[in-house]
Amino acid sequence: MKIGKFLAVVLAFAKAGNARRFPLPPSNLSNPDRGWCATPEPDESYFIGIKDVQAIEARDARVAGKLVPRSSFFPTLRWTWTIYTFVHVVESKVNEGLVTDAAIRWQIKVLNDTYNPYQFKFYLVKVQHYVDDKLSMGPFSSDAEYFDDFLRKTRTGQYSELNIYIYSNYPEDEFGMCTMPNTEPLIWAMPEQIYDDGCHINAGSMPGGWIEGYNMGYTAVHEVGHWLGLMHTFQGHNCDGPGDMVADTPAQRLPTKGCPKDGVKDTCPGKEGYDAIHNFMDYSNDPCYRNFTYLQAVRMHNMYGMYRSKSVSVHKDVRKLFPDEEMEKNDGWKTSAVT
Ligand SMILES: *[C@@H]1O[C@H](CO)[C@@H](O)[C@H](O)[C@H]1NC(C)=O
Ligand SMILES: *[C@@H]1O[C@H](CO)[C@@H](O)[C@H](O)[C@H]1NC(C)=O
Ligand SMILES: *[C@@H]1O[C@H](CO)[C@@H](O)[C@H](O)[C@H]1NC(C)=O
Repeated sequence: MKIGKFLAVVLAFAKAGNARRFPLPPSNLSNPDRGWCATPEPDESYFIGIKDVQAIEARDARVAGKLVPRSSFFPTLRWTWTIYTFVHVVESKVNEGLVTDAAIRWQIKVLNDTYNPYQFKFYLVKVQHYVDDKLSMGPFSSDAEYFDDFLRKTRTGQYSELNIYIYSNYPEDEFGMCTMPNTEPLIWAMPEQIYDDGCHINAGSMPGGWIEGYNMGYTAVHEVGHWLGLMHTFQGHNCDGPGDMVADTPAQRLPTKGCPKDGVKDTCPGKEGYDAIHNFMDYSNDPCYRNFTYLQAVRMHNMYGMYRSKSVSVHKDVRKLFPDEEMEKNDGWKTSAVT
């Protein structure tokens, strides 16, 4: 999907939600709620594609004899996917240097550690820095053509590879967005079609960032969940629709704010299960985020396998950008607020 097309969708949404269209650079506020995830609503091709994936899942479930395993042992996750990751840091002139290597390493480590139990690894290949006041406000704050041009010049690698753009001056009430897997046949073989594939993240949400309650790096985890094909646990905002189309996430009508005190929230009382407030695909705050469900992990594996992995990476032999010891030693880093 072209940035221009989903820009239109998102701006329509922003107006309805009364958000500012071209927000000022962020001030130093601590958000009471998770900022808006601007990942666009999945389009028709996604729903066509997901049918093929669901057919595979049904077959695997028949083979395994059950849909949901009792333990965290994942019989249908047959291997670990390694995702080569390119980071692009986009800063305004006054904020140049704000996002350090330490912060980036820590962010990748959070991604890697969080996804390891679900058999994904993230491998940082390259970090690139850009200084541009307009671009530093992210995809929705600059003109679409200028932004598209930037993506065309900078997106790196295959459709199987992750590009994470991190912005110093993202709107304060928006935390991030990704493109979901495009399920059109052979999309991965058409470089001119995939130039806008990737994720866009508010730098304040990185581990040690300035957005209080949302600075453990889990915005990137949530967004990459979209990149791997998951929808929000509250998708559709109702109790009776198809929701997120994952069978073991309970029906949920409304996103979670913060972290419910007694640990229970139920926006679909007539349906089985409470809201999955600890799920990365809800809107809870970072300390509340804990896990994906088994079938979300299966879905990510199958979406990645079916629609992304077929573009073979050319980076198999690349040397690690940072040695493992360095990846380990950045806990405690703080990124000061933007100016
Ligand atoms: C920004 O937040 C920090 C940490 O909460 C605080 O110490 C500082 O005074 C704030 N700055 C402004 C300009 O509000
Ligand atoms: C990612 O996790 C794997 C498995 O635990 C580990 O071997 C690897 O060094 C980690 N990589 C990074 C970048 O943290
Ligand atoms: C996720 O974590 C919460 C809190 O620890 C736990 O209650 C829940 O059972 C976990 N869900 C899954 C699917 O692991």
